[in-house]
Amino acid sequence: GNERINIAIDGPAGAGKSTVAKKVAELLGYVYIDTGAMYRAVALAAYRSGVDAADGDRIARLLETLKIALYPGPDGQRVCIDGEDATAAIRSREVTLRVSQVASHERVRLRLVEMQRALAASKGAVMDGRDIGSHVLPHAELKVFLTASVKVRAARRFSESGAEQGVSLEQLEREIVERDRADAQRVHSPLVRASDAKLLDSTDLSIEQVVEQIVAWSRTKLAEAK
Ligand code: CDP
Ligand code: CDP
Repeated sequence: GNERINIAIDGPAGAGKSTVAKKVAELLGYVYIDTGAMYRAVALAAYRSGVDAADGDRIARLLETLKIALYPGPDGQRVCIDGEDATAAIRSREVTLRVSQVASHERVRLRLVEMQRALAASKGAVMDGRDIGSHVLPHAELKVFLTASVKVRAARRFSESGAEQGVSLEQLEREIVERDRADAQRVHSPLVRASDAKLLDSTDLSIEQVVEQIVAWSRTKLAEAK
């Protein structure tokens, strides 16, 4: 049939959300929306403009003047800020170290959540983040909370870019623990497992196994939606 569903994937840093969300979207012919990239784009713009990550009002005002756009690309989602491709720049360590504080401000979240809901309005979205199932798309037909042990998550990130950015595995692990803490303890839509989200622990699973499980859950939901 023509039925489409929305799929929310939340969880801590390095759990595999973006990697598997992208593949699930490809398999289902859905669009993949990386909400973390939007918070990263705002953090990058603030950093470049010399705005303190703690200054929520100034960041919110800066955000009003920015055009943040997400485009599907051959190697995944691309992010543009005022027409400049910032896909690589938003992954820098400077951004990673500041993004949770930038994302803690209510005014920043209100604006980005509005954009995220508009992107998923016609269904057929696989959206990953921290508050998608709990707040952005509370009626998403499928919600997944993807986790893995902190050791495994740090090791995954290390093999991706740790060595390249000159950070030790231990340091990367400390930074991940700190970012998870900040994301889970903030006042406005913190990282939390929605009560109706399926828990998926990927510590001992391959990417393919995780993708297979989420696609199987999606097919069940699609059959139910008919
Ligand atoms: O990919 P990684 O796990 O490093 O993080 P990300 O998904 O790019 O998100 C970066 C940061 O943005 C998170 O640590 C959160 O502080 C924030 N974020 C958020 O607050 N809400 C979301 N829906 C997505 C990301
Ligand atoms: O988006 P999130 O921060 O949750 O994680 P990610 O950016 O997708 O990074 C996860 C890393 O772990 C990627 O390098 C994946 O290739 C790898 N990985 C995975 O995602 N899932 C597994 N089951 C095993 C490894």
